[in-house]
Formats: sequence, structure tokens, C-alpha cells
Amino acid sequence: MDKKNKSASTRLIHGKTVDPSWDFSKHLVPPITSSTTYRLESTERGHEGFKEFLNPHSDKPIWVYDRLDEPNCMMLENQMADFCNGEVGVAFSSGMSAISSLFLALLKQGDTVLAHRTVYGCTHNLFQNWMSRLGIKVIWTNLLDLPLLSSLLKEHTPKLVYMESLTNPTLELLPLKKIVATIESYNKDTNSEVVSAVDNTFLTPHILKPLNMGIDFEIHSLTKSLSGFGTEMGGMVVCSKKHEISLKLVRKDFGGVLHPSSAWSILQHGLSTLEIRLKKQQESAAKIASFLEGHPKIGKVIYPGLESYEQKDLATELLTSETHGFQPGFLISFELKSSADKSDTFLNLIAKNSYSITLAVSLGLTRTLIQMPSLMTHCTLDADDQASSGISRKLIRLSVGLEDPQDIINDLKSNLEQTV
Ligand SMILES: Cc1ncc(COP(=O)(O)O)c(C=O)c1O
Repeated sequence: MDKKNKSASTRLIHGKTVDPSWDFSKHLVPPITSSTTYRLESTERGHEGFKEFLNPHSDKPIWVYDRLDEPNCMMLENQMADFCNGEVGVAFSSGMSAISSLFLALLKQGDTVLAHRTVYGCTHNLFQNWMSRLGIKVIWTNLLDLPLLSSLLKEHTPKLVYMESLTNPTLELLPLKKIVATIESYNKDTNSEVVSAVDNTFLTPHILKPLNMGIDFEIHSLTKSLSGFGTEMGGMVVCSKKHEISLKLVRKDFGGVLHPSSAWSILQHGLSTLEIRLKKQQESAAKIASFLEGHPKIGKVIYPGLESYEQKDLATELLTSETHGFQPGFLISFELKSSADKSDTFLNLIAKNSYSITLAVSLGLTRTLIQMPSLMTHCTLDADDQASSGISRKLIRLSVGLEDPQDIINDLKSNLEQTV
């Protein structure tokens, strides 16, 4: 291509057109890509790219447009699929985009979903308010009650059973293997294809791998532990290859794509530091939970690592791995003995005085965050829904970060003392 007789402005746009330095195969760290569209050498190749997207059969994708597929996202998807022991990962712009896209990919008007009674507030809202508008019915249930699950499956013939592996914010564990066995036995008896989905954001695939237990879809908000520093938003669904296209078609047409620079950051900074962050966070969480449990102003502490944890046996079964031992997570929920307004006073004191604990929503970050679900993340649930989700007005959720645990304890202690 002759560019000599082209004007400076045109040359400033097109440069060398194709530069040999664009072969990045020698980079130690993959480059951040930020080209939303791609040069197609011929109409045939352009058409091939669209066909390949709809029916992928080669390992060498033809990049066409970022809303279809994109190199940084694809690297992250492959890494997450490997991490979760799934066949494919599909990345989205946020955890909520991953959850809503899974619904759109699997369900249509008239379908029913069984969902565990306690989920993240926006997930509750999505199911209750938006899915009902599309004619998709969500039945809230208690998935700890397996005979109830059996009878609901028979009564409602749902398409999907939905849950969080460790519930937000009540930190309840779900017996995933038994739930899968109940669904499988129903499927076998009735020749049905009910599938299961687990939001594993609170535990991460480092602690628990739901797909190994027969769960069909593992969902993550990448915004939390998997990115870890509070700088990126993202979501991911990991599943078997047969669901890849429908999820990618939803992403293409509804547009919830993950930004390549976020995919790059989650891949390079988040995933590579996850194990070491979790180790420190869990060591600290154990100390902080014991401190809270022994404090005279605290009425109740929920932490899967405590002896007093109600589902101690299930915690040991689900959260123990040969390679990493027992890993009870980094989230602690607790209540003060006194009334809800004293809990508000305590959190306001934290917001004002605390150096190592920040009053903020989100979790899994390097910074320790504290919040009150009834007034914040779950405030769109009405009082009845909060009660049936087990969320009391005064429940406090703490996400332990990487600070020195003694600093966190000191901040809790001094602000509890001032709460009168
Ligand atoms: C368990 C759980 N799932 C999903 C989400 C939604 O993730 P995002 O904020 O990335 O949309 C959250 C957010 O807090 C969450 O706690």
C-alpha cells in the first residue's frame, strides 16, 4: 500500500497500517488490547469471522468486533474455565450482567426458577422485579430442605435451581452435592433437564469448586476477590461448552461486555495474587471472629471457621481441600446485643474514627470493609423478604482485608467501647 502521497492527517490516522511489532508472542506479560474492531483482509474473512463466532470450531479465533470476542477477555475466560474446572468461561461487564445473561440464555416466558431464599440484594431484585416482567416465575425456597426441593421440582417442573455457595449476607452454606443428587434423581425419573447455578463469589474457586460437585453453572462477580483491589468490575459464567454460544449471543445482543483493560487487570493482578491474599485474609478473619465472639457487647457471630458455626460439619466437608486444608473464607457477619440504633451508632463511629476499617459495600478487597445489609446491599427487600432471607435489621457484614489483624481488632474494640 502506497502511503507516500497521502496527507499528514491521513498518515497520522493510519501510520504504518500493519506493524511487525504487533506480534506480541514474545511478551512476558500479555499486552492490554484496546482495539474495538479488527482489520479484515477480505470479505470472506469477515464473513468467516461471524460464522466462526456462531459455530466455533478452531482454536484460532477470527477477531471481528469486541462485543463478539476479544483477546484479553478470552485469556481471562480460558484461565477462569481452567481454575473452575469447567470447559468454557464467558465474561461479562459485572456480576449482575453475568447473572442476568445466564437467565436470558436459559429461560423464556412461562419458565420457573427455584431459588434459595437468601441471595445478594440486587439478585433478589432482578428475580423478583425484572424476571417477573418477562414472565419468568421465581419461587423462593429453602434449599437446605431437600424433601421440600424434591416436592417443588415435581410440583413446578422448573428449568433452573439457583443459589449462592455461601449466602450473602447470612453466610449459610448450601449442601451442593445433595442438591445436585436430588436434581439428578428428579431428571432421571422424569426425563427432565433441570440445571443448577451457583454464585460462588463469596468463596472463590480457590476455596470451593461447585462444578466438581455436578453443578452446571458457576457464576462470579469478578469485582470482588478475583480482581481484589477494588479497581475493576466484571462477571463470569463458567460451564460446559454446549452453553457457550447462547451465553455469547446474549452478551453480543444485550451488550454486557467486559472492558479489555479490566479483563487484563483481573488476569494479571487479581488472579495471580488471589491465593496469597486469601491466606492472609482468612488467618486474620479467624482472629477477628474469635475476638468478636468473646466481646461482651456482641450477641452473635457467624463465621464458618468458628466452633459455634451452625453448619460446622458441612463447613468442614465443603471448605476443606487436600492442598489447602480448611479455608473458611474472609467474611464475618455479626450482631450487637443491643438494639438496631446502637448498631447504626457503632457503624457511624467506625466511619468517623476507624483507620483500618471502611464503611463501604463490596467485599474481597485488600481493604477491610464493613456494611449493614438491611440498610444497604439488601435494602430493596421489604421487611417480610428481609425476614424470610434471615437478614435482621442489625446484622453487620465485615469483609476482612490485608491490614494487620490487630489494627482491625483495635478499631472494632475502641468503637464498640464508644457505642453506648
Ligand atoms: C454474591 C454476589 N453476587 C453478585 C454480585 C454482583 O456483582 P457486581 O457488583 O459485580 O455486579 C454481588 C455484589 O455484591 C454479590 O455479593
